[in-house]
Amino acid sequence: MVAKPPANAGSSPVMGLYAKYIFPAVLDRVMRQEPIRRQREKIVPRARGRVLEIGVGSGLNLAFYDRAKVDTLCGLDPSLDLQRRARGRADAAGIEVEFIPVSGEEIPLEDASIDTVVITYTMCSIPDVDVALKEMRRVLRPEGSLLFSEHGRAPDAGVVRWQDRLNPIWRRISGGCNMNRAIPDLLGAAGFELAELDSMYLPGPRVLTFTYWGTATRA
Ligand SMILES: C[S@@+](CC[C@H](N)C(=O)[O-])C[C@H]1O[C@@H](n2cnc3c(N)ncnc32)[C@H](O)[C@@H]1O
Repeated sequence: MVAKPPANAGSSPVMGLYAKYIFPAVLDRVMRQEPIRRQREKIVPRARGRVLEIGVGSGLNLAFYDRAKVDTLCGLDPSLDLQRRARGRADAAGIEVEFIPVSGEEIPLEDASIDTVVITYTMCSIPDVDVALKEMRRVLRPEGSLLFSEHGRAPDAGVVRWQDRLNPIWRRISGGCNMNRAIPDLLGAAGFELAELDSMYLPGPRVLTFTYWGTATRA
């Protein structure tokens, strides 16, 4: 649940190597945990038609797409280092992916051109998530759906207090991940309606593991 290398990662050769090799490897390992894998299994096979995955990262969702239902798949992510891993996983899964190496705040696709947007563990990391969600809504067809599984703001006051306290430090050491984003509120504010919403703590530290998943449609 970490996002991109720390901002100063490119400032020395050592930090450059860290950003290029160590950080993507650590992120990939963290994101391969079994409870997260089970979340992918709940969400990703539902994608159909023309699909856009936002924050495709190292491609850990690619094996879960139902190829009989997916016509085309675009994988958007600004990280080229993660994209290299994702390309390997696309080959292994035998799925064709058009990689789009840009940020979700500016999706280079036409209005109402996508049937399914998939986003997992990425809303925490997008700097301007409000803008990015509005972009996702813009490219979604009126009858399309956004499938998500995201960690965020917990329902318990005691946990939230710690999330708010720790978030400024966490954001720095995790390379931009926020632990306290209220995912359903963000979706609502961007013009989505929640057709299905589930939530629970996954195993692990409660400040990081409260997870929301479900389906959102254009309101
Ligand atoms: C914790 S990783 C999750 C990766 C993947 N979705 C998964 O479930 O394994 C967060 C991802 O958000 C991506 N990201 C960061 N900023 C972004 C932005 N502005 N737009 C889109 N993706 C972004 C990162 O490159 C990274 O791949």
